Amino acid sequence: MSGTSTVSSEHVAEAAEQRWAAIVIAIVAVLVLIMIITGWHWASMPPSRVETVDVRTLHLKGEFVESNLGTAIEPDGKVTVRLIAQQYSFQPQCLVVPADTPVTFRATSTDAIHGFIIGKTNANTMLVPGFVTTFTTSFHQTGEQLMPCHEYCGTGHEAMWAHVQVVSAADFAAQSRTAERLSCVQRP
Ligand code: CUA
Repeated sequence: MSGTSTVSSEHVAEAAEQRWAAIVIAIVAVLVLIMIITGWHWASMPPSRVETVDVRTLHLKGEFVESNLGTAIEPDGKVTVRLIAQQYSFQPQCLVVPADTPVTFRATSTDAIHGFIIGKTNANTMLVPGFVTTFTTSFHQTGEQLMPCHEYCGTGHEAMWAHVQVVSAADFAAQSRTAERLSCVQRP
């Protein structure tokens, strides 16, 4: 009697162990599959669309000529900020954006890799020569924010920053009646 019971409990224990082994193998297989699928997905899909620009003619023609930099209201009413980064400044040095409005940034670099973050907002990006960086965000607090370069770009890196003035949508609309491209750069 006792002999049979030992054999059957061994049998039960072995079956349970095999079940758990199968469950653990299944979990590991699922995790590996997730890694393979996400890895393949990231490798085959660029994180954003790639847009190139010719660094040599940046200042001469096209979207990033000096007179086109700053904040613009596009014909469709959308707000776009265009800026360039160079060793060791941003142009314009002071940006004006409306609060609680989607603002699209379009920016590039003329020389090294730069980057910027605007205050404590989620506006945070890298600027790579030859490529146009673009993202859209909204600012919910009015006031002035610092916009430092946050990619080491050479000896003047620490001194490279711009200011961003977030103004109410009404103030922005009033300012935009006076100029096609807005910035808060003090003109002498
Ligand atoms: Cu530009 Cu650091």
